[in-house]
Amino acid sequence: MPRSVKVAVTGAAGQIGYALLPRLASGSVFGPEVQVSLSLLEVTPALAALEGVVMELDDCAFPLLKSIEITDDPNKAFDGVNWGLLVGSKPRSKGMERGDLIRENGPIFVGQGNALANAASDVQVLVVGNPANTNCLIAMQNAKAGGVPSNRFHAMTRLDQNRAQAQLAKKAGVPVAQVTNMVIWGNHSATQYPDAENAKINGRDVPDVIGHISWLQDDFIKVVQQRGAEVISARGLSSAASAANAALDHVVSMESITAEGDFFSSGVISDGSYGIEEGLIFSFPIRSYGNGDWEIVQGLDLSAFAKEKISATEIELQEERSVIADLLK
Ligand code: NAD
Ligand code: LMR
Repeated sequence: MPRSVKVAVTGAAGQIGYALLPRLASGSVFGPEVQVSLSLLEVTPALAALEGVVMELDDCAFPLLKSIEITDDPNKAFDGVNWGLLVGSKPRSKGMERGDLIRENGPIFVGQGNALANAASDVQVLVVGNPANTNCLIAMQNAKAGGVPSNRFHAMTRLDQNRAQAQLAKKAGVPVAQVTNMVIWGNHSATQYPDAENAKINGRDVPDVIGHISWLQDDFIKVVQQRGAEVISARGLSSAASAANAALDHVVSMESITAEGDFFSSGVISDGSYGIEEGLIFSFPIRSYGNGDWEIVQGLDLSAFAKEKISATEIELQEERSVIADLLK
């Protein structure tokens, strides 16, 4: 029997869903041996549009696409799923910060956290909907009662990692694949700290390769922090193709064993590493064991500059948590 994986995608009729679903169904994420069943969740008024997306997926005739179910009931959507990609929520518009969405989107993740009790025992969850770290905290806390382990929850900072790698590659004039060990610390927000000091280009420290320290400590950080807003300003809509791509990169990284010496960025529950308050969903350098388990990479050197930036993003996450304290079990 071929292996199969069941994936729930929420907000499946939205922009990110449209970019994500064909790639999930094509086999490019789980590989050519794995059949994919899709379980798509939308709010009731968007189900008609979602039916159109399903027609298109059918019309792609993907050999590995085993089944597609659509529903507006989170309990059904998460039934038996191995992956939950929690995208569905409102995007910000021009002039807003991601944190401005907190009271509007936060409640979505209470119901979905509860419903995740219906998922398979090996479920892994990636929260994409903004503000991603705090929504992830809400889902994680509400899923606890249903027995879903907290280490199964991730908030997406892979898009920030990819953005940072692309900027460093451009500056150094190297192919992006040569940029590794790129950690985003903290919140998926304008306080995130993209850490060039610990990143590598072809195995060498980025500050040694690029040399332009004031650029690394100023423009580089600002460009990555503000990239989402820049895309919204240019497109009139928030990033979708790059966000879907990052979500799938995250899934691929979690399904593989991270190469020795490397790591990737993800918002996970803090165990107190690097002095970050336990229990916050904080983006760290992580290594995956390929079976849903992961570890925070220890021992990275943090300069005084880095520590100050990391502290600012931790404080912002504590503040976001206080705004939705009533949604945490
Ligand atoms: P979109 O508005 O195009 O689509 C969102 C979809 O979610 C809509 O179809 C809507 O009907 C659906 N939805 C709303 N509430 C829902 C619920 N309770 N259950 C199921 N579905 C629901 O938005 P988008 O561009 O696809 O973005 C989705 C989210 O992802 C936004 O919050 C956006 O800010 C966020 N985002 C995060 C990152 C990241 O890096 N973490 C990157 C890009 C976008
Ligand atoms: C992004 O980083 O592109 C997304 O979080 C969307 C946004 O609001 O910036």
